[in-house]
Amino acid sequence: MRGHAAVRAFFGARAATWDTKFPDDTPAYEAGVAQLDLRAGESAVDVGCGTGRALPALRAAVGPDGTVIGTDLTPQMLRTAAEAGRNVCALLVEADAARLPLASATQDALFAAGLVHHLADPAAGLREFARVTRAGGRLALFHPIGRAALAARRGHSLSPDDIRAEPHLRPLLAANGWELTSYEDTAARYLAIAVRTTD
Ligand SMILES: C[S@@+](CC[C@H](N)C(=O)[O-])C[C@H]1O[C@@H](n2cnc3c(N)ncnc32)[C@H](O)[C@@H]1O
Repeated sequence: MRGHAAVRAFFGARAATWDTKFPDDTPAYEAGVAQLDLRAGESAVDVGCGTGRALPALRAAVGPDGTVIGTDLTPQMLRTAAEAGRNVCALLVEADAARLPLASATQDALFAAGLVHHLADPAAGLREFARVTRAGGRLALFHPIGRAALAARRGHSLSPDDIRAEPHLRPLLAANGWELTSYEDTAARYLAIAVRTTD
């Protein structure tokens, strides 16, 4: 899936039932967000937020003085997020992850769950994430299930070209403004944490 129309058609059709399909993932999202080590008053963006499953945890981490923005390309996902009340804990914005409507170096942390491999140009996406993040800011690439377990659930085998594999991801991040600082790919979760380097 690459083009915006295909992304919107695919995820738009799944938005209304997204949360009921994955009802037990909340603790995994909370634990993933915790690894961003957010402080009260900081700013965080959930890129490709979908129905906003990470948004309550991001808001809890930054508190009432922080800012939380959820962005997604698919309007139905954002509508479902709002219907679930997640517009109370975050500003929801329809935007392409490769063209975020945010000023440069303004964000303390970005969270992206199940997103990067959907991007037409993952390098450009990571570069855009770096543009909006201050030096020393953090990025979490997350999924509430590891790559092998997800592939098995779907009856696929893991692709050797998967950009989320550490040997691919580390240099891809480094070339686009990030240093990979921790990497987990277990049955329980996929979580890569990176820190924004200085240009
Ligand atoms: C697998 S879903 C994950 C949703 C959410 N992060 C979660 O964990 O429940 C991927 C999401 O990425 C969004 N997406 C895909 N390509 C995107 C792009 N170029 N810009 C912004 N969002 C995009 C889709 O609309 C979808 O909501």
